[in-house]
Amino acid sequence: MQPKYHQSIDIFAPATVANLGPGFDIMGMAIEGAGDLLSIRIAPGDSLAIRNESGMPLPDDIEKNVVTPALRAMIAAWGHPLAVEVVIRQKIRPGSGIGSSSASSAAAVVGLNELLGRPFGEQELITFAMEGERLVSGGTAHADNAGPAVTGGIMLIRGYDPLDYIRIPVPERLYAAVIHPHITVNTVESRAVMRQEVPLRDAVSQWGNVGGLVAGLLTADMGLIGRSLKDAIAEPYRKHFIPGYDSLKAALSGIDGLLGSNIAGSGPSVFALCDGPRAAEAAGAAMVLHFRQLDIAAELYTGPVSRQGARVL
Ligand code: HSE
Repeated sequence: MQPKYHQSIDIFAPATVANLGPGFDIMGMAIEGAGDLLSIRIAPGDSLAIRNESGMPLPDDIEKNVVTPALRAMIAAWGHPLAVEVVIRQKIRPGSGIGSSSASSAAAVVGLNELLGRPFGEQELITFAMEGERLVSGGTAHADNAGPAVTGGIMLIRGYDPLDYIRIPVPERLYAAVIHPHITVNTVESRAVMRQEVPLRDAVSQWGNVGGLVAGLLTADMGLIGRSLKDAIAEPYRKHFIPGYDSLKAALSGIDGLLGSNIAGSGPSVFALCDGPRAAEAAGAAMVLHFRQLDIAAELYTGPVSRQGARVL
């Protein structure tokens, strides 16, 4: 199929919550109500131009933009030179912890794939989008944001070499509240505070919880999902980045229908998984109150888990 030269398309990719509690670097979900919107245009040639019209601060140097390595990986795999123009129209605030970099990378590769006549499948698209993650994570390319940003829903990444992922069905009553306090946590720094070696007792509890979370999602067992939303690997070391984290968690735990809460990705966003919309609204209200009391501006997203990934508008 001929590439669609000189046509412009708009692509949206959703925000995502990585780790989902115990699944550091191996689980993630897409959320409703936030994401990145890009316009992409291609022509014969060999160049890449990225224009930021989102109003969010992004580096002017395209070598520092996550879209660049993602698109370059894809163009290299396609095997022909191409002139690509990207306009970033709407952007999740960088450093939010809800997959700001992945939403751009996912939108860029899904958009370019459309314009090229869809030569690549879902797994390849995730692999290209992961190259954007490598840029912002200090050399590690993980898929727990990039995967669900491409596909929507909840994803388990069983392995990276090669990428082997499973899309987990989302229980009907599973709702999320996610708050993004306007403080910046750098992903590299947030990864650097973690231990490189984990005591066996923490490893045992972690794989119990990952297994429990997956089994709970597959069987829509809300109690099991809630019991499994625990993390011994990242949360204890990262919570200090989030003002009043323990008291926020304590306030959330008293809400009827709240399954559990944790840090979204590398932070500073915090998410709560809930049984139904009312619990998600109550969790959201508690989150807003927490950051208001600390005089920290914040944005709240509540809704069902997004079943849709990156898509042409
Ligand atoms: N799994 C990653 C982390 C997500 O927690 O560092 C953030 O990019």
